[in-house]
Amino acid sequence: MSVLITGGAGYIGSHIALELLRHGRAVVIADNLVTGRRSLVPSGASFEVLDIADEKAVRRLLNTHNVKSVIHCAGATIVPESVENPLKYYSNNTCASLALLRAISAEGVKHIIFSSTAAVYQATDGKPISETHQIGPNSPYGMSKWMTETIIQHVASAQGLGHVCLRYFNVAGADPDQRSGQATPNATHLIKVAVEAALGVRESLGIFGSDWPTPDGTGVRDFIHVTDLARAHYLALRHLETGGDNLTLNCGYGHGYSVREVIATVRAICGWDFAVVDLPRRPGDLGSVVADSNKLRAVLGWTPEFDNLDTIIRHAIEWERKLLITAKC
Ligand code: UD1
Repeated sequence: MSVLITGGAGYIGSHIALELLRHGRAVVIADNLVTGRRSLVPSGASFEVLDIADEKAVRRLLNTHNVKSVIHCAGATIVPESVENPLKYYSNNTCASLALLRAISAEGVKHIIFSSTAAVYQATDGKPISETHQIGPNSPYGMSKWMTETIIQHVASAQGLGHVCLRYFNVAGADPDQRSGQATPNATHLIKVAVEAALGVRESLGIFGSDWPTPDGTGVRDFIHVTDLARAHYLALRHLETGGDNLTLNCGYGHGYSVREVIATVRAICGWDFAVVDLPRRPGDLGSVVADSNKLRAVLGWTPEFDNLDTIIRHAIEWERKLLITAKC
């Protein structure tokens, strides 16, 4: 019996695969390799190049590997891109998930864990956001994920599909043993961009907005180490397999850092004051996004191991150096 990870050749999915393999689980990965990388598929996992919108192919895969649980990570994740190209997000995230759910329900899969996002919530004044906070996505990306959560809940009520929706805050860092990390070219997320600037891969870093209602005027985010996030998936899987209730859980640490604080930390660790440029706000952005993750800790017994900005950035830097060395070889 295998666990299927969609998008398992991507940044987050590959870390989840490593975590499941560590626990001796059989893992099968489906990824269309649009943003995923074959090199990120951990040894020990089965792998197939496959688009989850291809219902027939997914049904065959579920059947061949006797899949009873699916961890669904495949999708597009860049907030400003979703504002420019909403159809890509409704198609890749919502419509493709619909096809996956049809395959899942036809093949009698018992559980699904869905990669959702903090972007489903309405903007806040900076207070930590709990799962009961008002829904109100500010971008097509957030809406595409909220629509998928809703569809999963309705399918679950109708057919008894066990589900956990994990709402990720800002995922960062890399595997402490450097087996995986963020490898997507032209990645847009802050810590990756700052590390690239610090290592000379980019000339500068632009700060998108210095007029947010935050202590230093720049955006504040709750950065969660990707390995701690992967552990939350394993715990969610065990929860469902042992008959636990359906859940929606925030994944973050409960405290945030501003863009300027992240830049200062990267500069201090690398010892290089790379150039920083003030730019206007980015479409779809929010000021402060910080998780109240008490439910994740209480219900799943999740205890983070890497709740430290320095550690997250150090792991990201080591990974970036590894990518640079590999590219030169
Ligand atoms: C990220 C995730 C998104 C998730 C959300 C939850 C990515 C690509 N996106 O979005 O999937 O739903 O967290 O909170 O990981 N910034 C700069 N300059 C840069 C890049 C970013 O100033 O070059 C700022 C942004 O304006 C923002 C903060 O850094 O204030 C974080 O941005 P980013 O890393 O792109 O992530 P989110 O947009 O928060």
